[in-house]
Amino acid sequence: MGLVEEKSTIITGAASGIGQATARVFAEHGANVVVADVDVEGGEETVADIREAGGTATFVETNVADPGDVEAMIRTAVDEYGGLDVLFNNAGIEGNVAKLADQPVEGFDDVVDVNLKGVWLGMKFGISAMVEDGGGSIISTSSIGGFRGIPTYSVYGATKAGVSLMTKTVANEYAEEGIRCNAVAPGIVETDMVSRVLEEDPSQEEEFLAMEPMPGLAQPEEIANTVLFLGSDLSSRVTGATLPVEGGHLA
Ligand SMILES: NC(=O)c1ccc[n+]([C@@H]2O[C@H](COP(=O)([O-])OP(=O)(O)OC[C@H]3O[C@@H](n4cnc5c(N)ncnc54)[C@H](O)[C@@H]3O)[C@@H](O)[C@H]2O)c1
Repeated sequence: MGLVEEKSTIITGAASGIGQATARVFAEHGANVVVADVDVEGGEETVADIREAGGTATFVETNVADPGDVEAMIRTAVDEYGGLDVLFNNAGIEGNVAKLADQPVEGFDDVVDVNLKGVWLGMKFGISAMVEDGGGSIISTSSIGGFRGIPTYSVYGATKAGVSLMTKTVANEYAEEGIRCNAVAPGIVETDMVSRVLEEDPSQEEEFLAMEPMPGLAQPEEIANTVLFLGSDLSSRVTGATLPVEGGHLA
């Protein structure tokens, strides 16, 4: 019996990196997974991998910043899998990586739209479905950049701090309805996002490798397993938390 057996689960940003790894881990543990992403090819690849391994998944093209898309994403879980038990708001973009005054004005809205409004929309439409279904677990992806003022990540960090605060608010607002709301805060994870940053500024590699006391970079599966814990009944008394998964960086 899997840890999330038959749980109807939506994962955004599941075409790549942390979201893709989480979709696979949830499916391995018995969940019925809605893979949501703007990237159709990557999303369909995630679904194909899951089905090949004997799991259950479906893809829905979703821009998390678009209210209509997010409503349709939630409806897909309800229609296909009979409700909504777990929602992982994970889609995110890094935006412009530069010191604040050097950042172009263009790009600011995109980061806020995807990283903050996207999480808000997921919560807004997801909560209604969960309340009808007797509760559920919402998890969102924050970052160590939401705890510390890491140079060149001012806008990104502000959205991630916002995700953690929104998580606390929702935990308070919906505890009585049986909804738990938590976040994970990864450090540096070996995904396309980090490759993009290093392509633009290779000098950050040494800094990335030195950031966490534990050696090397985190793998997406290590974040996925923490999300699995938060999505499962193993974390039945955990709500309002942002769990750091960062090799001891914040310590
Ligand atoms: N990689 C890291 O070191 C790291 C560290 C801390 C936090 N995070 C966060 O983890 C999450 C996942 O990032 P990742 O590292 O796996 O990166 P990634 O680039 O590999 O994956 C991000 C996914 O989000 C999707 N996406 C982007 N904009 C979208 C939108 N508007 N609607 C729907 N999907 C969209 C992309 O298509 C992609 O599949 C992000 O929220 C990121 O901020 C990553």
